[in-house]
Amino acid sequence: MDWKKNIKGVIFDLDGVIVDTAKFHYKAWKALADKLGIDFSEEQNENLKGMSRMDSLNYILSLGELQNMLEDDKRKLAASKNLYYLELIEELDESDILPGTMNWIQECKQNGIKISLGSASKNARRILDGLNLTDHFDAIIDGTNTTETKPHPQVFLLAAKALNVEPSECVVIEDAYKGLEAARKGGFYSIGIGDPEILKIADINLTSLADESMDVLEQL
Ligand code: BG6
Ligand code: MG
Repeated sequence: MDWKKNIKGVIFDLDGVIVDTAKFHYKAWKALADKLGIDFSEEQNENLKGMSRMDSLNYILSLGELQNMLEDDKRKLAASKNLYYLELIEELDESDILPGTMNWIQECKQNGIKISLGSASKNARRILDGLNLTDHFDAIIDGTNTTETKPHPQVFLLAAKALNVEPSECVVIEDAYKGLEAARKGGFYSIGIGDPEILKIADINLTSLADESMDVLEQL
């Protein structure tokens, strides 16, 4: 495809695309799981990519058959995990922006392509601020704007609407299988960042944004 003509918007996922926060999420969830006496491995943590905070908690609780806990207690546990997570990400700065991200953002600008964030995280604005990236985005849609979670396409549909572009004119960049499912359901093109075996639902697979310039969109 002639992408310079046809693509009007790019929607970036945050965690795992712009910055590697999965290790901090894991550390914080692991501390909570340990406290509750639940075994929680790094492999199981993979399943939490793209999942909301409460869904992640419920997943971990179910590993210890504790999923029937009172909602109020669940909220307290999620809040305590988040406090620790916020401590862990406090030091994030521009040097933590994953390789290739800035080039893609610059290429979007040079080609008049609008960009939005499309993240499940309720900490997204804080993280973007820490990375000094907030001003680069034409729209920021995150877990504070949504009622549905990926694989529901709501977050990306809201992002496309905020950019005033159609899903069919947009590329979603995602590292999570659930995020790529959401992109497909919403009628977006997609790029999967990570293991191509796991993410083969994507239109294009890359191991990192640093691997290619935006000309890779010719493959669409
Ligand atoms: C997603 C992450 O981007 O955000 C998930 O991939 C995380 O692992 C989710 O659970 C919610 O994040 P937060 O920052 O609102 O707890
Ligand atoms: Mg992600």
